[in-house]
Amino acid sequence: MTWRATVLTLFPGMFPGPLGTALAGRGMERGLWSLEARDIRDASTDRNRRVDDTPFGGGAGMVLRADVVEAACAAAMPEGDPRPLVFLTPRGAPLRQSLVRSLATGPGAVLLCGRYEGVDQRVVEARGMVEVSIGDYVLSGGELAAMVLLDACVRLLPGVMGAAESAEEESFSPSEAGALLEYPHYTRPAEWRGLRVPEVLLSGHHAEVARWRRAQSEAVTRERRPDLLQTEQRRDSAARMPMD
Ligand code: ADE
Repeated sequence: MTWRATVLTLFPGMFPGPLGTALAGRGMERGLWSLEARDIRDASTDRNRRVDDTPFGGGAGMVLRADVVEAACAAAMPEGDPRPLVFLTPRGAPLRQSLVRSLATGPGAVLLCGRYEGVDQRVVEARGMVEVSIGDYVLSGGELAAMVLLDACVRLLPGVMGAAESAEEESFSPSEAGALLEYPHYTRPAEWRGLRVPEVLLSGHHAEVARWRRAQSEAVTRERRPDLLQTEQRRDSAARMPMD
């Protein structure tokens, strides 16, 4: 079954963009997933194809109208379409691998890309949209965020990644609650510009390699993402399940 993505955007020409190349592009060519970008403007009934209006209460910027967004959603999703509707917005809950995983195991997703100041909240709630942010910074629209989310989902679809790109042992697997950042990687040559690869990796002692990697993961997580280590400690006291 093809995993189906539909993107609602004012800039359909931005798609597939980078999703048409590399791993995601190959997956699309092989029919493992599909991408349809729909112009929100096509849902406008205004003779000037207006989609936005000024915010009630005043303030800068424009707001996408609820009626236009509703019509765009209705046109994109037939009654009973089982796919979740995700609204990309800096107001959203932070994107995590757990959401990526649950979207990737479903039938697909419909992604609404905001522009301007935002989208009339009534349609966001009436449609039960899942509001998602890809990080604590503001993009000029949701399109790049939608591409990030799609890339993260598509690489998990069965058949998209080969053994060479295994997703089993990476940061945030098997679940980011308790996961650590990944250990560092090295390949040949064993010495480069006088810099030696850590000796333990050349030793052939699998248990020691695993122990070293675990220690590296903990150290880098402590330094960069102590928030993750806290959930890890909570989990450790219940049942130990590191990323190995
Ligand atoms: N639109 C603008 N900024 C965004 C962000 N950080 N995440 C998701 N959508 C956005």
